[in-house]
Amino acid sequence: MDLKHSHSVKLNDGNLMPVLGFGTFASDSVPKSKATEATKIAIDVGFRHIDAAYFYQNEEEVGQALRDKIADGTVKREDLFYTTKIWNTFHRPELVRQCLEESLKKLGLDYVDLCIIHSPIAMKSGGDLMPKDASGKIIFDNVDIRDTWEALEKCKDLGLTKSIGVSNFNRKVLELILNKPGLRYKPVCNQVECHPYLNQSKLLEFCKSKDIVLVAYSALGSHRDPNWISDKSPYLLEEPILKTIAKKHNRSPGQVALRYQLQRGVVVLAKSFNEKRIKENFEVFNFELTPEDMKEIDGLNRNLPYMELSFAVDHPYYPYSEEY
Ligand SMILES: NC(=O)c1ccc[n+]([C@@H]2O[C@H](COP(=O)([O-])OP(=O)(O)OC[C@H]3O[C@@H](n4cnc5c(N)ncnc54)[C@H](OP(=O)(O)O)[C@@H]3O)[C@@H](O)[C@H]2O)c1
Repeated sequence: MDLKHSHSVKLNDGNLMPVLGFGTFASDSVPKSKATEATKIAIDVGFRHIDAAYFYQNEEEVGQALRDKIADGTVKREDLFYTTKIWNTFHRPELVRQCLEESLKKLGLDYVDLCIIHSPIAMKSGGDLMPKDASGKIIFDNVDIRDTWEALEKCKDLGLTKSIGVSNFNRKVLELILNKPGLRYKPVCNQVECHPYLNQSKLLEFCKSKDIVLVAYSALGSHRDPNWISDKSPYLLEEPILKTIAKKHNRSPGQVALRYQLQRGVVVLAKSFNEKRIKENFEVFNFELTPEDMKEIDGLNRNLPYMELSFAVDHPYYPYSEEY
């Protein structure tokens, strides 16, 4: 991982990923047009890695920003690193390519840089993104995650995506892929929730040992969308230790939370639709946390996921049913 010059990391398939990514998820209450506005600002301030997903239902708007910024000469397509995700209702092998192609169509692009399986929890296919039965329980689908992976490998062969990876996989589910007979491509990354309250140190060590990049989401303490996250969960950026370290470096707690990940070899995502904070979040390459700061932040870990994904707690691939 190069934090001094290229600000990127070489993936296990040889492609480069910028180490700081711009998150594009926003709750339903936020007008979709905000995604265009914010993504354009992000590109203007220097973000080159854009993290998006079929599920976020705003790829048309994010795609508009990319097309505008390419058209006005700010960036070339090859300077951008765009990630999309295969949603849970598209795990059946015959649906994987369809999901990616729908994203490409909305984006107006002919390839993405990275396509990842959004989570290992397959849900019933069909129009409903969160299919539920009469009692309100999520309806799962019985799909072997290795079949979904093989379909994603084919998307890479077709050039629809440059790299392929996974998200919300614990070690056990990652090993299902890694030990699959006939595996053709290893996942380049595992995108998981990761911040000082859930620092994922064991999963990080495991991923590093397999040359898989860990990508941190909710690194700033999450979007706190009440559909997904309890309002009782603590506010990460109010954490006194982060505030003290930030003050010492004349930085914000958010910048410290992002820099923490970079210094431990984690690619980090930061979502903001606010111009001032988008700029602030990009200013993380010109200061350094000391080993003591890093240790103090490590000490904040309490294995607390903001997004508990409690609807999937009984699923065999539920990410938090294992130690890591
Ligand atoms: N793979 C998955 O399952 C998964 C799950 C969740 C998220 N993600 C990805 O990861 C991205 C980031 O995660 P996230 O959405 O949970 O959010 P996040 O990056 O942890 O934080 C976003 C929240 O912090 C605020 N914020 C941003 N910068 C700040 C700063 N410098 N100081 C104070 N507050 C700041 C934002 O509000 P403002 O917009 O008002 O600034 C927003 O409310 C998502 O957008 C998405 O791309 C992936």
